[in-house]
Amino acid sequence: MKNFKQEIANKISEAMEIDKEEIYEYIEVPKDSKMGDYAFPCFKLAKELKKSPQIIAQDIKEKINTTGTDIEKIEILGGYLNFTISKIKIIQEVLKEIELKKDEYGKSDIGKNKTIIVEYSSPNIAKPFHIGHLRTTLIGKALYDIYKYLGYNTIGINHLGDYGTQFGKMIEGYKRWGQEYNIEDNPIEELTKIYVRINELCKSDESVLEDCRENFKKLEEGDQYCVELWKKFRDLSLKEFYRIYDLLDVKFDSLNGEAFYSDKTDEVIEILEKTGKLIESNGAKIIDLEDKKMPPCIICKSNGSTIYATRDLAAILYRARTYDFDKCLYVVAYEQNLHFKQVFEVAKLLGISEKCQKGLEHVSYGMVHLKDGKMSTREGKVIKVEDLLNESISRVKEIIEEKNPELTKEEKEDISTKVGIGAVVFNDLSGSRIKDEIFDWDTVLNFNGETGPYIQYTYVRTNSILKKVNKIPELEEIDFKELLNEDAINIVKLIYSYTDILISATKKNEPSILARYLIDLSKAFSTFYNDNKIIVENKKTQDARIYLTYATNIVLKNAANLLGIKMPEKM
Ligand code: ARG
Repeated sequence: MKNFKQEIANKISEAMEIDKEEIYEYIEVPKDSKMGDYAFPCFKLAKELKKSPQIIAQDIKEKINTTGTDIEKIEILGGYLNFTISKIKIIQEVLKEIELKKDEYGKSDIGKNKTIIVEYSSPNIAKPFHIGHLRTTLIGKALYDIYKYLGYNTIGINHLGDYGTQFGKMIEGYKRWGQEYNIEDNPIEELTKIYVRINELCKSDESVLEDCRENFKKLEEGDQYCVELWKKFRDLSLKEFYRIYDLLDVKFDSLNGEAFYSDKTDEVIEILEKTGKLIESNGAKIIDLEDKKMPPCIICKSNGSTIYATRDLAAILYRARTYDFDKCLYVVAYEQNLHFKQVFEVAKLLGISEKCQKGLEHVSYGMVHLKDGKMSTREGKVIKVEDLLNESISRVKEIIEEKNPELTKEEKEDISTKVGIGAVVFNDLSGSRIKDEIFDWDTVLNFNGETGPYIQYTYVRTNSILKKVNKIPELEEIDFKELLNEDAINIVKLIYSYTDILISATKKNEPSILARYLIDLSKAFSTFYNDNKIIVENKKTQDARIYLTYATNIVLKNAANLLGIKMPEKM
């Protein structure tokens, strides 16, 4: 598909003899489409050219000859030069591209030869998978899929919290009372009970705590009994996590969690020791970060054991060697901001390439607050994600039961699952990730609001329109002029910008950009649909409108899938 922005950049670059890449970076899309399709902020060149933006705008305008180009109009507005592209050309480009790529519309290879690691989900073994883990899982999955669609070599890692002294306690508790608990059927809940109980005992009996420490030591040394138990806890927990992952269709390329790095921390310590920066402090080994205005990063505790941060450093070393990544994204809550700042700082001492060093990025996100006070985690009541998803599904089932009683049981099942999950997913991804999220059922499941169900509903509407005609018309039969009205053009422009939207979502690692886009496209289609009849007498008009509906249908589904939302075929 033609890149109009590039065409404009080339023209400006020729006129001013300035690098076209630089110009391309500066070109913006005006918020109000009445101001044109693209705007060039001339003040960006004012310093370089020692001229006022107005003079520069005048200069460029005079030097650009638009005959034979796709540029229809150039206007000066303030310090901006505004470009309008021929509408017919945009329509033509978009529809041709839809015909060519179909379901793969918007796919790109700009990420070719670049490797992106997305680390996400990363729950702790034998601990509840809480609503914060749901956010990392959804943001991470969306980023993973978007990067992949743009041609990046993408690696998804679930950095499981499967290591640490707490396993010494868990083993002790299980050894004592394992028989009393049904950990096969309900692993996380039962293991949590054991954990709470052993902690109580440890508090009153110092010797039990000693036994726990001993267990952890044995686990580190590879003692068969301890390792087997640890494996059992891990496997059972994973089985439970996968019930959620399967519901959300989340997959990982690697489940190498903290335990995987337990035998790789010695090398980290050796490397750090050689730099001369690893210093003793109260028996512990630390890296001082005072000059970076941060507390020190502990590498080794006084008893010789390593910590969470040490294992993260080992992971960086391993990933740099194994994947030679361009970016390694950590989708983790903002509570860990300091942790990652410290770790990334210390990682500079590991001798990894500058590319990898610079590619480390903490993609942090805010907390989830539930509007319904009953569900607050503060009171120690943890909301299980699985329960939340199932509740959403059953709430939708009730709505569907009422709205569409004529559907078969299977259809109702399918719709409720897709809509119930889609609603939660969209709600989670629609706000900018760093903001705290309010979870309120009335918003989440509002079919008319800016929600997942609204997008799915719009998609289903395009589906039923397409079903009314026997087949999608051939592109050659389409008269593009039929789409020269504001409502249609709005849709066409949105569809044209799809790949750019995906690119900006990756630049900011912000799935909400794509979520916003889905709302914009759904609204644009609803307006078009309300103002224009699609099935009409005049075949030429109908064919063009059907083709636009077809294009919208493809992009809605594609974009929703990239966010992790599945589209029902009816609703
Ligand atoms: N397991 C941790 C938690 O649940 C998150 C791990 C984040 N990733 C990392 N590389 N430290 O809080």
